[in-house]
Amino acid sequence: MSRTTSRHRRVSRVQAARTGNDVALAERRALASPATIGDLGEQRAGDDALRASEHLHRSIVETLDEGIMVQDLDGRVIAFNKSALRILRLSAEQLEEGSSYRPLLPLIHEDGSPFHGHEHPGMISLRTGEPQSGVIMGVVQPDGETRWISINSRALFRVGESTPYAAVGSFSDVTAHRRTLAELHAARLEDLKRLALVGEYRDDDTNRHTERVAYTAALLARKLGLNDDTSLMIRRAAPLHDVGKIGISDTILLKPGKLTGDEFDAMKAHTSIGGRILGESDFRVLQMATEIALTHHERWDGTGYPYRLRGEEIPISGRIVSVADAFDAMTHARPYKQAFPVARAVAEIERCSGTQFDPGVVAAFLTLDHEALVDTA
Ligand SMILES: [Fe+2]
Repeated sequence: MSRTTSRHRRVSRVQAARTGNDVALAERRALASPATIGDLGEQRAGDDALRASEHLHRSIVETLDEGIMVQDLDGRVIAFNKSALRILRLSAEQLEEGSSYRPLLPLIHEDGSPFHGHEHPGMISLRTGEPQSGVIMGVVQPDGETRWISINSRALFRVGESTPYAAVGSFSDVTAHRRTLAELHAARLEDLKRLALVGEYRDDDTNRHTERVAYTAALLARKLGLNDDTSLMIRRAAPLHDVGKIGISDTILLKPGKLTGDEFDAMKAHTSIGGRILGESDFRVLQMATEIALTHHERWDGTGYPYRLRGEEIPISGRIVSVADAFDAMTHARPYKQAFPVARAVAEIERCSGTQFDPGVVAAFLTLDHEALVDTA
């Protein structure tokens, strides 16, 4: 462990020893006195053994790729290893200048909000005595780049005491790992968009219908008070609602005018085909997409398809996309039909409240800017 400051040099050996097993060794040395040992030779041998042990432990800490930092009750860094300086890109002098309550560099949460001193995992461990694991913290560098670290912390207790006197934190740089995950995530979303295009290609080769439905569905989700996570999931899953149309023949899908009974039965199968294409995935967004594909043609009064679900038996995602899909289909022309004026489409949605559509979703829909929805994409 590095020495912390020149002004703390006198106590730095004890401070540096206060990690892991060194704590016990430091305590043992404090408890041992010449009066109890009696023999100066024995004492010297004990000191030598202690020094050797300290040296060993310090060497081990310095070989770690993880940063190690010990903080006192005020959040000041009182000991650290070289990896801590490398990961934080700080000098020893800089590290010892700051504290959790007065960080040298801005610290942020994953959502970009500032990391306050009392939220620092080391400070939480000191306050509660409880270990903290896998806390992600962003360290904003002077050039604006954010380095992301994952921190574990534990409180340190003196022998026989129940109140911690310091916290030891270990941390690693997860910036590259996060970048890779972000790229994978973006690639997956891109794949989903292309998959949505596959379903719509024959009558909407631009993805615009699916994107408009998803946009309206996300607005409805928020209006209905669904949390941000669920709203975002609906936003990403909704474009896939008709992916099962890939299994429907052109003669039915693009037929101008009314479908025969048999043709309509065949058309209905796009829900279950979509469910099979998207189903049994471990990804939450695909699980949501499966739910939507299967239920966006169910009706509030129980006369929809494929399961004839009724009312709240229909997942909220399906009830929302049902309204968004119907409005968009009515307000846009397809090769086989004309577009309705917006006011007429809104009136039709309102008319079908309580029969085809969930009245709560329709009430939320009526508060939206409908003209803007038509021009979303
Ligand atoms: Fe559909």
